[in-house]
Amino acid sequence: MADDLPENAPAGIDPTTPTFARVYDYFLGGKDNFAADREVADMVMQLVPEAPVVAQGNRVAIERAVTYMARDLGIDQFVDIGSGLPTASNVHQFARAANPDARVVYVDNDPIVLAHGRALLTETGVATFIQGDLYEPRKIFTDPALTALLDLSRPVGVVLAAIIHHVPDERDPAGVVRALHEFLAPGSHVVLTHLHDAGDDPRVEEAKRVLQSGLGGSYFRHSSEIERFMEGLTILEPGVAHVTEWRPAGPTGPLEHPLHTQMVAVLGRKD
Ligand SMILES: C[S@@+](CC[C@H](N)C(=O)[O-])C[C@H]1O[C@@H](n2cnc3c(N)ncnc32)[C@H](O)[C@@H]1O
Repeated sequence: MADDLPENAPAGIDPTTPTFARVYDYFLGGKDNFAADREVADMVMQLVPEAPVVAQGNRVAIERAVTYMARDLGIDQFVDIGSGLPTASNVHQFARAANPDARVVYVDNDPIVLAHGRALLTETGVATFIQGDLYEPRKIFTDPALTALLDLSRPVGVVLAAIIHHVPDERDPAGVVRALHEFLAPGSHVVLTHLHDAGDDPRVEEAKRVLQSGLGGSYFRHSSEIERFMEGLTILEPGVAHVTEWRPAGPTGPLEHPLHTQMVAVLGRKD
């Protein structure tokens, strides 16, 4: 609703049209969303009240992946594409808890993320935010703010969390991921999380339809398709796995909820 929009809001924010970043923020219990976003999210939650646990499971998978890359693989620089609105814990907090020297560049194309990200995700010499589009990787990786913070001749950890499921088949999700490879030094890693078509919960079918009609552009895919998006990378154990099972030795406790089969994670290395 327009009355939700603060007077000093940056240009480009349309409160009446739901966006992925704001609906997702609402699922995570955030406050940077408008009535139009809550309407879509509430419709989904009427069908699947536990829907937010999918988003929460996704955040845990990101924490596990980033911690693993920073602590076990020695990666100290990250690019988080489709970062979303700042949440309680963000990639630079996960990374720096494991490696105090880690630096992070956040990228998103939603102007509301730019507004809040600049305020909350920016710390000189540690983290910065750039407005950028996944479909224009050269612009992202040549952005002066990115090249000032990261050394692209060294391995980078790329986080593609809950973004590739917004890429329709017509836009060639595998090609979109592959296009990033040329900017990555050998030893770089890519973690991808994706809505998963587990096909075992009829309520989810209905929720998918609501998401699709209210927001458009969210695609649940089978794990074999998601694996294909990692072509050209060496997939690390345990492969494409539910967030419940992915890196279970990670820093947080196990995730038990059955809906965690609706989100999978996979980590790959550029050799
Ligand atoms: C569901 S949220 C995921 C946020 C966060 N990565 C996470 O997993 O917790 C998807 C994010 O991707 C962003 N996004 C979608 N398409 C994009 C594109 N083409 N380029 C950059 N960001 C995009 C949205 O604005 C949104 O913030």
